[in-house]
Amino acid sequence: MDLLDRLRLDVPVAQAGMGGGLAGPELAAAVAAAGALGTLGLTAPDRLTAAVERVREAAPDRAVAVNLLMPFVRRGHVDACLRSRVDVAVMAFRIDRAMIARLREGGVFVFVMVGTEQQARTAIAWGADGLIAQGGEAGGHLTGDTDALRFLPVALRVAEDRPVLLAGGIASAEDTRAALAAGAHGVVAGTRFLLTRESRAHRAYQQRILAADRTFRTTLFGLGWPAPHRVVANAATRRWCGDDGGARLAPRLVNVLSGPMARLPDRAAASVNNLQTPMLPLFSPIAPTLDMPESSVERTALYAGETVLRIESVISAAEAVAELSPGGH
Ligand SMILES: Cc1cc2nc3c(=O)[nH]c(=O)nc-3n(C[C@H](O)[C@H](O)[C@H](O)COP(=O)(O)O)c2cc1C
Repeated sequence: MDLLDRLRLDVPVAQAGMGGGLAGPELAAAVAAAGALGTLGLTAPDRLTAAVERVREAAPDRAVAVNLLMPFVRRGHVDACLRSRVDVAVMAFRIDRAMIARLREGGVFVFVMVGTEQQARTAIAWGADGLIAQGGEAGGHLTGDTDALRFLPVALRVAEDRPVLLAGGIASAEDTRAALAAGAHGVVAGTRFLLTRESRAHRAYQQRILAADRTFRTTLFGLGWPAPHRVVANAATRRWCGDDGGARLAPRLVNVLSGPMARLPDRAAASVNNLQTPMLPLFSPIAPTLDMPESSVERTALYAGETVLRIESVISAAEAVAELSPGGH
């Protein structure tokens, strides 16, 4: 069956599920109502259930997707997805064979986001229904370092006849057309949807990244999850990153030793976040959301992809879907 039919989409465009409260039901519902795939970022299981209901109320005939940011996923998140009968789950930054099987048995279409051939092979061998091929130009955490259009053929070959969506570098209809022409079945955009009115990114965060003239890879904001990510500079990165963007030794050591913190309950993780200052080498992956003080833009991760250098303003999610649609301008 065609992917658009199966997921009840008008256009082959998906909004990335951005965790830590960035992509909530307002954004996912607006994207779904505009005919694209709206995705909820990971949040506590009870909030996830409520968020799915809100998207369903606002966009009743559309699919709902949930992002499973694996370092932080607990059994309760999967239970919530199954109970709410979500249409799609996107597993990222770790692959769990039993979880893929459980979701698929529950009727959930499982995408796995990958950035290397080995990750793609494992995902397919373990039963993924489709792949999201993420390029190194993407915003947020990174699964590999090859550009999206160069990695796409590898993912397509491994996926055989399963759908492959391209993520990284998508900010215009032209980008979408190039991805489709290269064989992708659709595209995923994160940064473009972060810069919408329905996103819960702090307004100062949005303005900061719109004004940036450079993004870079670092591992600075790795407390509990020491994986590379693409950000824009702030006081914390100026204090703790080298010229190449890499984190200095002190935060690197803290991050490597803090893996078990990913298992902290959400409330405990939030209090760590409140302690953050640009002066201490202790930086969690949480980005600035609307409920945080404006000063948090200097001490938290300002995730953004390379497309931020071409995006000019904050628009509505419906406008973003129209701009990314292959028939758009
Ligand atoms: C602010 C931000 C937060 C993100 N959070 C997540 C996340 O929680 N889970 C995930 O799988 N990917 C996350 N991503 C990565 C996206 O899934 C996607 O790969 C990326 O945004 C695509 O590149 P683009 O930003 O150039 O559109 C995030 C990206 C951004 C920009």
